Amino acid sequence: MQTVTDAAALRAAIRGWRTAGQTVGFVPTMGNLHAGHHSLLKLARARADRVVASVFVNPTQFGPGEDFERYPRTLAQDQAGLAEAGCDILFAPDVATMYPFGPASSVSIHVPVITDTLEGAHRPGHFDGVATVVAKLFSLVQPDLAVFGQKDFQQLKVIERMVRDLSLPVKVMSAPTLREADGLAMSSRNQYLSAQERSRAPLIHATLLQMRELFQQGHARQPLEAAARSRLERGGFVPDYVAIRRVEDLAEPGADEREGLVALVAARLGSTRLIDNLPFD
Ligand code: PAF
Repeated sequence: MQTVTDAAALRAAIRGWRTAGQTVGFVPTMGNLHAGHHSLLKLARARADRVVASVFVNPTQFGPGEDFERYPRTLAQDQAGLAEAGCDILFAPDVATMYPFGPASSVSIHVPVITDTLEGAHRPGHFDGVATVVAKLFSLVQPDLAVFGQKDFQQLKVIERMVRDLSLPVKVMSAPTLREADGLAMSSRNQYLSAQERSRAPLIHATLLQMRELFQQGHARQPLEAAARSRLERGGFVPDYVAIRRVEDLAEPGADEREGLVALVAARLGSTRLIDNLPFD
């Protein structure tokens, strides 16, 4: 595996593959890779001739007071894992390569409406940062397909919309959330949890499973959301949202709508903010 930090070297390598008629799969990441990321690599590997992964802790998707500074940066470890997972090129640019005019003076992409709710409502500007950096990465890599995790469900929907709206020639694929044995969704942020918080953290997945089961038994949406919120609060969480939404556009479903739904949670446990979701179908 080759590690490339500048755009010209990346383009030159990919041009060679293209000339040979090979397809390119892409897995964008912020590094600190775990088994969840490796499953995205595996999917890209299975669907494309060549695989590029990026590691870039993108400053524009972190709000003031969020964990940009302390976000774990583990490039040497990531390189070893990516090489083992069959990655051909690791693109690890610096901020000046991704934002030649500086993050504050960058072109910014805003995907409206779907970003007004849930994560977007609690992390203003977050999805502008995500959409912008993913568009920039797509422009540099020009992949045939790109793989994202379902754990960041709203992010996946935002990127799907951006790609469709801008007619970008990239197939967006998704891979299921990988979980620890006790149900906790794998995330780089899990390592912020103290031992006591870690033992409580699986309650999010347990709560989502219960919501799905009760919904499928015919319970109404809003009382279920309220009961799930209370359960998390009793477990020591401070929820930002606990919501059942439409998979398609993350809008609130109508009273009789019972298909094509997903439950989503964001909650703080101490100083760590965790997100998770569970599609109902
Ligand atoms: O999901 C992530 O790791 C990031 O949001 C992404 C897609 C790599 C953009 O920085």
